Amino acid sequence: MHDQQLATRASELKPSAVRELLKHSKLPGVISLGGGIPAPELFDREGLELAVSQVMSGNFNDAFQYGLSEGYSPLRQSVSELCRLRGVNCPAEEIYITSGSQQSLDIVARTLLDPGDVVVVERPTYLAALQVFQLAQANIQSVDTDDDGMLVEQLADLLTTTKVKMVYLVPTFGNPGGKTLSEERRARVVALAKEHGFIIIEDDPYGEINFTETRWKTLYQHAKELGCADQVIYTSTLSKILAPGLRIGWLVMPEWLAGKAIIVKQATDLHSNSMTQIVTAQYLALNRLPQQIALMREFYHKKGEILANALREKLGDHIEFSQPKGGMFLWARFRYEFDTTAWLSKTLANGVVYVPGEAFYNDAPDKRTLRLSYSTVSDADLVTAVERLAKSL
Ligand SMILES: Cc1ncc(COP(=O)(O)O)c(C=O)c1O
Repeated sequence: MHDQQLATRASELKPSAVRELLKHSKLPGVISLGGGIPAPELFDREGLELAVSQVMSGNFNDAFQYGLSEGYSPLRQSVSELCRLRGVNCPAEEIYITSGSQQSLDIVARTLLDPGDVVVVERPTYLAALQVFQLAQANIQSVDTDDDGMLVEQLADLLTTTKVKMVYLVPTFGNPGGKTLSEERRARVVALAKEHGFIIIEDDPYGEINFTETRWKTLYQHAKELGCADQVIYTSTLSKILAPGLRIGWLVMPEWLAGKAIIVKQATDLHSNSMTQIVTAQYLALNRLPQQIALMREFYHKKGEILANALREKLGDHIEFSQPKGGMFLWARFRYEFDTTAWLSKTLANGVVYVPGEAFYNDAPDKRTLRLSYSTVSDADLVTAVERLAKSL
């Protein structure tokens, strides 16, 4: 009876069979290649303890008081410096602190989308972004990807018949595919935005976790060069490079959007957590983050290689994949007809879980795919996990 009392947007949300299965990943002895979470041993305990103690002695009142919806000013200032080094050159006033980039996506969707508006995503894409766009009752359309990210010409074709409001991209070391949009496609998608007037959301949690010497320009930077920066919304987060429990992310928004988006933020939570904003500002002032990121690159790079080597050796005849060049995920695909969702209960019985690719598709899922995360698994367990996968075939 209560089903009828649910709002349509909530009642249309589907429970995830995958989530149910992954609950078992906490069972003793099960190795999980499922979670996309950072390795806790990389948390900078010493630096964070120092920042917390400085806040307790120096900023106690501010840390436990209400704050501004836009965010804590010194934090906005340090984030703008972080952004500048990434090629997102904007003043601190254009940076808005959020409770993680998940909230950034929600705020943008609620500020910009009416039910039925077309949002284009990559196929596959970040699962929780799909949830945000579903809750906004958007008309979600997927565009295929290859090793160089979204097939931008497929988007160009879609634009000839469809009015697109927004394109959501994780252009660098994406989740789940680990793919990076080529420089040429970056330029092209921004040019298409300028021509057709759609908004781009550039979601960049993993760009710093780069195992290569290559640097790509942000879409924001391309848009600045093309004179359409007011059509790109950049969001990033400290979740992957510092600690997700802080819940500190940010939005770089053009002026036309920021005024309304801040009201949406106020309606949601007034402001992000004062304590963690101030701790984060204090932490960033210690200038330890660059060293942390260097450690992290090396750590994840090694793990990505261990996993890739084990997969090549034990499962190379069955699956294909590209070696991760950054980020926390390895995306693989069976060479033949295969259902990775059905396979999960079998691998679980053998003590290993992963995320079936199906979870990351808005439509027409490719059941042969799976996402393997190497971030929190010990080197030895990565090898054991692959042996268990092989045994489950
Ligand atoms: C692509 C992408 N965007 C956004 C997020 C959300 O991150 P947070 O809200 O912790 O900043 C994640 C987390 O996994 C992600 O993978």
